[in-house]
Amino acid sequence: QDQASGSAGTYDFLVVSNRLPVDRTGGGDAGWRRSPGGLVTALAPVMEKSDGAWVGWHGAPDEELEPFEHGGMALVPVPLSSADLELYYEGFSNATLWPLYHDVIAPPEFHRAWWDAYRKVNQRFADAVASAAAEGATVWVQDYQLQLVPAMLRAARPDLVIGFFNHIPFPPQEIFAQLPWRRQVLEGLLGADLLGFQRPNDATNFARAARRFAGATGKGTHLVVRDATDDAGHSPRAGTRGGRRAGHREVRAEAFPISIDTQRISELAARPDIVERARQIRSDLGDPQTIMLGVDRLDYTKGIGHRLKAYEELLTDGRVKVGEVTLIQVASPSRERVEQYRLLREEVEGTVGRINGTFDTMQHTAVRYLHHSYPVEEMVALYLAADVMLVTALRDGMNLVAKEYVAARRDGTGALILSEFTGAADQLKQALLVNPHDIAGLKDAITAAIRLPAGVAGRRMKAMRRQILVHNVEEWSSLFLARLKEVSQ
Ligand code: G6P
Repeated sequence: QDQASGSAGTYDFLVVSNRLPVDRTGGGDAGWRRSPGGLVTALAPVMEKSDGAWVGWHGAPDEELEPFEHGGMALVPVPLSSADLELYYEGFSNATLWPLYHDVIAPPEFHRAWWDAYRKVNQRFADAVASAAAEGATVWVQDYQLQLVPAMLRAARPDLVIGFFNHIPFPPQEIFAQLPWRRQVLEGLLGADLLGFQRPNDATNFARAARRFAGATGKGTHLVVRDATDDAGHSPRAGTRGGRRAGHREVRAEAFPISIDTQRISELAARPDIVERARQIRSDLGDPQTIMLGVDRLDYTKGIGHRLKAYEELLTDGRVKVGEVTLIQVASPSRERVEQYRLLREEVEGTVGRINGTFDTMQHTAVRYLHHSYPVEEMVALYLAADVMLVTALRDGMNLVAKEYVAARRDGTGALILSEFTGAADQLKQALLVNPHDIAGLKDAITAAIRLPAGVAGRRMKAMRRQILVHNVEEWSSLFLARLKEVSQ
């Protein structure tokens, strides 16, 4: 007890993620604004109610900042140097773990110097939380950049209740096995009381790997692990868990599919200026009969190339015609210093150039390609303008764009083409589900979507909207936190 309270801070609820949920509004000392995204929307009210804080990197390298308040939230910045960015963020997080966890679509690279940096930075995050957390506080660690934090935290602060949520897939054991530091990563995660995943399969994959490579026992996704803190005798919660083996802890791995702030997207979609903007977008494109839309971070997991290939073939076959159909592809810049992302950009931009060079007319374009990110209002206008939404990811933990499109289609029109390799496909069952590797199937799905009878489209869209109106991000966070409370008692 003394050891724990000696280092205790004041916050009862802490969220930890690689990035803080704020962006700078301008250069230098300009202010901050809350980043878009459901996670912060869901958690901000919880923080206000429970004396919470968010711990994370504030987005600029080589800069140390004092904790500050923004929009009623306490923010605790963790500094990253340029070297940390290169080795921990671009390297281990985004060139080792990201491709490994997404079905090795790109080859993961294994470098010991990256791993060392990953460990060191995870320790820094854990230290920041350990000194900010009050006795017995609840800590919720987010995503693959911070998988070692749960065990590091438990070692320093056995009094804490620790949850972890993995926003991306967890790979099958056979693929995960490639990671030279697989045991250490599993042990890091197993420091949590509850591990949340997007799909039941991800939880099962994790549990299998934990049994195989980290000596966990137990059935299904209810795991039992040795508890170092209990052995050493300073776990305040040791002995309070009736019927459990001394020196052991239980860890649950379960699915909690994340969602969006459905209400907010839906409300924006009713705002007259946004509705007008959608009309403007259509007329700027020369009023085609069908607007198709893709919205992705420019990432090789998103299957942008597969989508373009299907579309190019449809144009070549004459099954769709420029002037009648236009594809808007928003590709927001992402991880631009990572080699695979640079290569992807060249490839996508080469393909778009070829398609437009071949099929554009003076008046109309085949692909309106935009390498930008946009504020949520413009995104909703695009969703409203789009008759067909294309989500063709080769692997995606969830895919919130699919859910946002559905949330914006208040009148029940519009067709969603959705890859079966997204977590969202589990919830949006009435979408036109596709295997993006099957180009012939994808082409048929696109033409079917363009011609979908209004009655069928309406029934499907309404069923999907009902799903996400109920299962929104607020429900997601409440379910996770309630379950965390339950399993840690
Ligand atoms: C995915 C990850 C997030 C990450 C986001 C943006 O959604 O699950 O953890 O923050 O991509 O990527 P970035 O590398 O820019 O943070």
